[in-house]
Amino acid sequence: MKKVNEKMTVEIPGHKYNIHIKKGVLADVHKYVDLERKVLIVTDDEIPEEYVSALQQQCPECYLATVHAGEASKCFIYLQFIWNALLDNGFGRKDLLIGLGGGVVGDLTSFAAATYMRGVDYINIPTSTLAQIDSSIGGKGAINLGDVKNIVGAFHQPRAVFIDTDLLQTLDDRNFYNGLAEAVKAGLIGDAELFELFEQLPAEREQIQQEYIEQIIVKALAVKKSVVEQDEKENGLRQILNFGHTIGHAIESAGELAGMLHGEAIGIGMLQVTEDAALRERLAAVLRKLNLPTSHEYPAEQLMEIISHDKKQSGNKINLILVKTPGKAEIVKMPLEAVKKYL
Ligand SMILES: NC(=O)c1ccc[n+]([C@@H]2O[C@H](COP(=O)([O-])OP(=O)(O)OC[C@H]3O[C@@H](n4cnc5c(N)ncnc54)[C@H](O)[C@@H]3O)[C@@H](O)[C@H]2O)c1
Ligand SMILES: [Zn+2]
Repeated sequence: MKKVNEKMTVEIPGHKYNIHIKKGVLADVHKYVDLERKVLIVTDDEIPEEYVSALQQQCPECYLATVHAGEASKCFIYLQFIWNALLDNGFGRKDLLIGLGGGVVGDLTSFAAATYMRGVDYINIPTSTLAQIDSSIGGKGAINLGDVKNIVGAFHQPRAVFIDTDLLQTLDDRNFYNGLAEAVKAGLIGDAELFELFEQLPAEREQIQQEYIEQIIVKALAVKKSVVEQDEKENGLRQILNFGHTIGHAIESAGELAGMLHGEAIGIGMLQVTEDAALRERLAAVLRKLNLPTSHEYPAEQLMEIISHDKKQSGNKINLILVKTPGKAEIVKMPLEAVKKYL
C-alpha cells in the first residue's frame, strides 16, 4: 500500500490554502494552523466524540456548536445558532471556526464564517467520503430555504483543509459509497485514469478503504482544484463539476428526505446523459460495483417539472454537461425542452 502524505495547494486570486491529506492528521492540526485564539468547532451529533475531543485538546480556548445530523440542519435556525455562539463568546475578526463533519457541517460552517463580522477564518475537517472527495474544497457555503437547496450562500475559501481518511472508519456503508460517486464524476470530467481505477477497483469496502481511498481522494481533488482555480465563481468552466447534477438534483428532490442521497442520485444523472452505449455500460458497471443505484422510479414529467423550476432564474436555456470520452467534459447549451430526451 502506498502511504499518502500529500499537501495540495489551492490558489485562487487573493486566497491560497493547503489541503493536508494524511491518515491521523486530525491530531496534528495545531502544527499547521494557529489554534492559540478562540476556536468554535461546529459538528453534528452523529460525529464520534473522540474526533471532537482530539480537536478540542489542541485548542486552549475552545467552544462547541453541535447541530443535528442531516440535511435539515442547513437552515437559518442553525446558522443563527452558530452566529449566536460566536457573539455570546466574544469572537472577533481574528478568531476561528472549524467545521468537523460531512458536507452539511462544512456548508453551514463556511457560510457562518463568511457572514460573521463580514468574514472570519475557518478550516474544514471533512469526515464523510462526499466531503473529503468534493464539498470541502471550492469555498461554497450555503443553507437551504424550505425545500430549495443551497439558495442562500456565499463563496468563502477555507484557511486550510485536513483530510484524515481514518475518520471514514465510522461512516456507514451507504454514505461511504455515496461519496464515491463524486470521484467517479471527477474521473469522467477530468481524469480518465481515475475512472479506469474505479473499473479495476475491488468491490469490498475494507479493501477500498485500506488501499485505494487516498489515491481516489487525491485524484478527485486534483480535478476539482484545477477547475476551481480556473473559475472560482462558476462563470464558465466550473459548470463541468455539475456533470450528472441537473437530472441528479431532480431525482434527489423528487424523493425528498426518504429518497436518494446526493451521490446516489448523481450517479443515475450521469448515466442518463451518457449517450455512448459502451461508455454507459462501463459507468453502470462501476456504479453497481459501488452499490450505487442505476435506475429510479420517478416519471419523466415530474423530473422535468423540477428541472424547469430549478432553472427558472436562468431563462429557458440550460447548460448540460456531457462526456463522450472519460476525462473530457463539454458544456452544451440547449433549450430546456431538449433535456427531456435524457429522462
Ligand atoms: N459546498 C460544496 O461544494 C458541496 C458539494 C457537494 C455537496 N455539498 C453538500 O454536502 C451535503 C452532503 O454532504 P454529506 O454527504 O457529507 O452529508 P452529511 O453531512 O449529512 O453526512 C452524512 C451522514 O454521515 C454522518 N457522518 C459524517 N461523517 C461521519 C463519520 N466519520 N463517522 C460517522 N458518521 C459520520 C453525518 O453525521 C450524517 O448523518 C449536502 O448538503 C450538499 O448540498 C456541498
Ligand atoms: Zn455533487
